[in-house]
Amino acid sequence: MRESVIETTDLRKTYVMGDSEIHALDGVSLHVERGELLAITGPSGSGKSTLMNILGCLDRPDAGDYLLDGEDVATLDDNRLAEIRNRKIGFVFQSFNLLPRVSALEQVELPLLYGGGNTRSHSAKRSYQGTESTLRTGNKTPELSGAQQRVAVARDLLLQRGGAEWRNRAREALVAVGLEDRMSHKPTELSGGQQQRVAIARALVTDPAIILADEPTGNLDSRTSEELMALLLRLNADRGITVVFITHEEEIARRTNRIIRMRDGRVAAEERGEMSGSALSPVGAEADRAPSGSLRRAEPSSDQRTARPASRPDEAKP
Ligand SMILES: Nc1ncnc2c1ncn2[C@@H]1O[C@H](COP(=O)(O)OP(=O)(O)OP(=O)(O)O)[C@@H](O)[C@H]1O
Ligand SMILES: [Mg+2]
Repeated sequence: MRESVIETTDLRKTYVMGDSEIHALDGVSLHVERGELLAITGPSGSGKSTLMNILGCLDRPDAGDYLLDGEDVATLDDNRLAEIRNRKIGFVFQSFNLLPRVSALEQVELPLLYGGGNTRSHSAKRSYQGTESTLRTGNKTPELSGAQQRVAVARDLLLQRGGAEWRNRAREALVAVGLEDRMSHKPTELSGGQQQRVAIARALVTDPAIILADEPTGNLDSRTSEELMALLLRLNADRGITVVFITHEEEIARRTNRIIRMRDGRVAAEERGEMSGSALSPVGAEADRAPSGSLRRAEPSSDQRTARPASRPDEAKP
């Protein structure tokens, strides 16, 4: 048995609009093992984003249980939820959600500044927290410049403390996504695919248990989508990072271990994807059965190795 990283039981979420009720989630039970690559598909309005927001601790279910990496998170208050989110989850959104006028390297440092353990600068952390939630909810238009000012101050304060180590980790994450030669570029100086890779590096940098991606290729042309998908596959295979993503594209959904098809707030069907023989094979499970906590960085199983694309920019040195 592999370790489970997401375990939900009968999740429910209902929105009341006037006198009608929308059952956005109508009893979703989902079990995701560490190292899985899972696609969620389904028609518009079927509850995909609602589910993703709950899995990502951005929202709470009205009813049901949710164990994230073994922790019961269904009923936590906002502060605890934010803390868990920052520690365990990396997000990637359709619209990239990068700050304008901020370099790739600084974008990737931001989650470290927010989570940055040993600092005593609570006001700097709070300042960053505002920006962090703005980014995660994607609601960035009205107060972005204020948020950017706050984050600049917070960054300066926190960098004095976290300093070199955080910068190195941010660099490593950018190298892992193949952007070693674009670190000082701002979003307007990067292509769409590169911007999304910055967002993936930002998701990776905190070493999360899961990466959640809501239509990560939705704003990219098909060739760039392919490249992005290859990158997610490689991170999943090489690092054993659990990746759960929503997609409308059948081609992309098939290149996973498993496809969850939602309809009317329920899981209508589950299918094995093309990669179902690799990460979840008994061989992989044996190889990954290692002592405490080493699963996340487990060596890929032999069949994962064969599934890995040829180009491996993460092995390049800066
Ligand atoms: N804040 C909200 N208030 C009221 N209804 C909502 C709210 N958020 C979502 N809904 C409703 O819940 C249902 C599920 O929405 P959700 O955003 O999860 O769908 P989705 O599967 O992500 O769709 P899409 O593919 O269009 O992104 C929809 O009918 C939607 O209208
Ligand atoms: Mg959606």
